Amino acid sequence: MGSALNIQNYEDVDSWETLMFLYNAALKEISTKIDILNDEFQHIHRYNPIEHIKSRIKTPESIVKKLKKNGYESNVTNMVKHVNDIAGIRITCSFTSDIYRIADMIANQSDLKVISRKDYIKKPKDSGYQSYHMLVSVPVFLSDGVVDTRVEIQIRTVAQDFWASLEHKIYYKFEGNAPEYIRRELQECAKIVSQLDERMLSLNETIQKFHVNPCDSAS
Ligand code: GTP
Ligand code: MG
Repeated sequence: MGSALNIQNYEDVDSWETLMFLYNAALKEISTKIDILNDEFQHIHRYNPIEHIKSRIKTPESIVKKLKKNGYESNVTNMVKHVNDIAGIRITCSFTSDIYRIADMIANQSDLKVISRKDYIKKPKDSGYQSYHMLVSVPVFLSDGVVDTRVEIQIRTVAQDFWASLEHKIYYKFEGNAPEYIRRELQECAKIVSQLDERMLSLNETIQKFHVNPCDSAS
């Protein structure tokens, strides 16, 4: 009939349009899953672990740039094989404990496959960058089959996100060659970020032990 896409494997996709269609579908699937997990958590614990969620598809320019940087020719086969973060989701939360909780909840979804994890909180990058990364594959259900599609998930605290966005801006401004004193200052700020995250977490644990009657504090 010729009305279906006829894709068996994500690695076999050879058209740009089809690939973009799959990535968009995968992002929708994951976003909904994460929304539901957050709602369920709110329902049970009266608390939202997630502050916000942002998803994006990498621009063609930055896909080409990444392929070139790694010595690959720009074609769809190389994109599928060598660029793992074309579809990306960033989850921002309040506390580092939320990060691991969210990562576990995602990993426990029986239809998702965790391909790899990188814990840049336990082991920050030299730049000072801290975040938790997961590369997963999500089944995208088509009319004639299922295609497991790759999505990169970044989970970080609000403070880590604040740091990463400024560092990103500086990186671009200096095209990766920021002056030494700026790099050092960023590394210092990264240390402050992790101290802040630790103190906020322990403060939060302390206040959890108090059971304040809301009527007592009403003025
Ligand atoms: P990329 O080639 O950058 O994708 O690195 P990778 O394949 O080794 O993956 P990694 O998990 O280290 O990084 C993937 C993504 O994490 C990047 O595209 C950025 O969004 C983010 N990231 C990694 N390192 C840094 C950093 O030093 N600063 C900032 N601001 N973001 C970073
Ligand atoms: Mg990247």
